[in-house]
Amino acid sequence: MSQNVIELKGVRKEFVSTKHYPGFKGAVKGLFTKEKEEKVAVDDVSVTIKEGEIVGYIGSNGAGKSTTIKMMSGILTPTEGTCLVNGIEPYKNRKINAKNIGVVFGQRTQLWWDLPLSETYTVLKEIYEVSDEDFKEGMDFLYEVLELEPFIHSSVRTLSLGQRMRADLAAALLHNPKVLYLDEPTIGLDIVVKDRMRKAIKDINHKYHTTVILTTHDLGDIEELCNRIIIIDAGKKIYDGNLSDLKKSYGCNCSVHFEVKEVPELGKYRAIHEKLEITINQKKLSVNFNKMDFSVADVIAKIMAIAEVTDVQIKETELTDIVKKIYQHGVEAS
Ligand SMILES: Nc1ncnc2c1ncn2[C@@H]1O[C@H](COP(=O)(O)OP(=O)(O)OP(=O)(O)O)[C@@H](O)[C@H]1O
Ligand SMILES: [Mg+2]
Repeated sequence: MSQNVIELKGVRKEFVSTKHYPGFKGAVKGLFTKEKEEKVAVDDVSVTIKEGEIVGYIGSNGAGKSTTIKMMSGILTPTEGTCLVNGIEPYKNRKINAKNIGVVFGQRTQLWWDLPLSETYTVLKEIYEVSDEDFKEGMDFLYEVLELEPFIHSSVRTLSLGQRMRADLAAALLHNPKVLYLDEPTIGLDIVVKDRMRKAIKDINHKYHTTVILTTHDLGDIEELCNRIIIIDAGKKIYDGNLSDLKKSYGCNCSVHFEVKEVPELGKYRAIHEKLEITINQKKLSVNFNKMDFSVADVIAKIMAIAEVTDVQIKETELTDIVKKIYQHGVEAS
């Protein structure tokens, strides 16, 4: 049985800032008042994550994802609740915690701007007290999976975004941490580099059993990498489960689009079944249905029995559609 690597219990984070008033007059007023306002960024979140899991942590902009990651990595202290990573509270034991975790913030680099990449890694080796042997083994592996070779001697300032992101990931993994936090690691990357990053994350998880917490707005990352997803909305956890259950609960809709030879007679189609939602636009006919009620083959057979079909297209509800609904309406309503 794998052990729990991360345990959050009732974690809450409030930010206190100076109150802002709307408009120009408001801005001026703001200069002379010290009224404070509280903002709850993370609200009573409890989560347990086991060793070796790759968990997708998703939510709309401002939902509280980065704030959670910052608490788990020891950058921020929770206002309430406890957060344990590898059995320690990250913000109280920052030095020990640093050895257990690796962090990549896609939005900004953690590398030294002026140093050649190879030297950066040598400095990190010393900081993290990695033995020569482990360093060589780890670097050889990272060098290959992240394809660092073409730019290993370039200084960080000259790297392209895709190269920089791979370099950052290698830096976060050099000391072989138990937990890897990735905050939007594929933001702005082209499809090929994105694929390479995803493959590298998979390989690392596989080889070292690294626990990975991934926040992203790219649902392709989630589909590729995560069995489990946690959805946060306005600071609250609203879903925690596996991807296929989420798809089963919210993604049962499927649509089949037909092109037919003859302009159909509406009544005839509508009479097929009340649970099939049929729309007709000239010679195009779309059928929406729940996969719990019908199979795709069923629907195709039904339509083919009454019309001469010249083309068929099947469209499953995509994760993007499900998540869009959840972000807009919450889990219950979707
Ligand atoms: N240092 C801070 N001071 C005040 N408010 C903050 C601070 N950091 C974050 N917040 C607020 O907390 C909320 C959650 O922010 P957070 O960065 O965690 O969101 P997020 O889910 O990572 O969003 P995004 O997808 O846009 O990155 C936001 O309303 C944000 O404005
Ligand atoms: Mg964020």
